[in-house]
Amino acid sequence: MEITGARESLTESSENYDRFQELKVFDDTKAGVKGLVDSNISKLPRIFVRPPEDDISGDTIQISKNTQFKFPVIDLTNINVDVLRRAEAVDRVRRAAEEMGFFQVVNHGIGERVLEEMLEAARGFHELPREEKAEYYSRDQQARKVNYGSNFDLYKSKFANWRDTLFCVMGPHPQPLDPKELPPLCRDITIEYSKQVHKLGITLFELLSEALGLKPDHLKGLECEKEHALLSHYYPACPEPELTMGATRHSDPDFLTILLQDHLGGLQILHQDQWIDVPPLPGALVVNIGDLLQLISNDRFKSIEHQVLASHVGPRLSVACFFTHYFYPSTMINGPIKELLSEEHPPIYRETSVQDFIAYYYGKGLDGNSALTHFKLPR
Ligand code: OGA
Ligand code: NI
Repeated sequence: MEITGARESLTESSENYDRFQELKVFDDTKAGVKGLVDSNISKLPRIFVRPPEDDISGDTIQISKNTQFKFPVIDLTNINVDVLRRAEAVDRVRRAAEEMGFFQVVNHGIGERVLEEMLEAARGFHELPREEKAEYYSRDQQARKVNYGSNFDLYKSKFANWRDTLFCVMGPHPQPLDPKELPPLCRDITIEYSKQVHKLGITLFELLSEALGLKPDHLKGLECEKEHALLSHYYPACPEPELTMGATRHSDPDFLTILLQDHLGGLQILHQDQWIDVPPLPGALVVNIGDLLQLISNDRFKSIEHQVLASHVGPRLSVACFFTHYFYPSTMINGPIKELLSEEHPPIYRETSVQDFIAYYYGKGLDGNSALTHFKLPR
């Protein structure tokens, strides 16, 4: 059984296209999208073809041509020693989190060498021989803290994304993951990057707490920084990029995401009904508010939809750090923060545990709908 190419399959009737079978063939290779690229395919296999109703080129949403638009870049230099700089950073974080849900940070304390080595290690993993990578392949993210796969929602989504991911759950801090579980090739740098990104996460949660008018350690007290996962994404060059996506539009299942992207670009965010490019900026990290922070901030902060375009140019590498709980057995129930509620601002969401939220998000898959809707209180 072959995986059908896009063009051939257009001439077949839909009954002849056994999607489940083709997904299974792809899944059973345990070689991901990289495996397809290595077999020198010239056409996009049909399982990756975006159905017409999801076609972004026919979308009413325009790709931004607004050159006036400036993606916020926040400088974190001296924010722990200079009160004025801190106040300015808090103010800029507040505006970005309320209006765009996204910003970039520079002078964040993580050295360029660490950033480069992390991206190189991610590439190294995805370019390992098929048999070595296959050992880590799993569809069950609950089974092990470290696993590799392609399309966590492969059997649920309308089309597969042109991307593979190595998923490593690093917490809960201060008890780190057993390093032996990490692939040797990326072990040391993953642990180093995890430590540094965790520290930056704490700084950002402090700024975000202050931006909400709360004490600096408020979000930390809600266990937002207890555990994080590092998702090393590999977006190979694609033979027919206009027919698929690197990542379908979605918002993130976490409190906060810190994203390290390479120089190729392709990430876009939805802002005022326009898709806006997130420009690669050497040494910068992209930060975005996740669904859980939107929930506990009672919609003060926005968890914004974003997507990644597929491209003829690749591979593109990125490493996303999700601050959320996968294994951490928290007993904390999260709802809108009481201090933010008033008669004017009644709670918009019901209380939930992070585990229940995550289970709902991953059970649903990337279907273009926000998981937050499920947690809204009736009006
Ligand atoms: C994600 C994500 C963007 C990227 O991991 O949720 O949106 O550029 N990644 O890889
Ligand atoms: Ni995302």
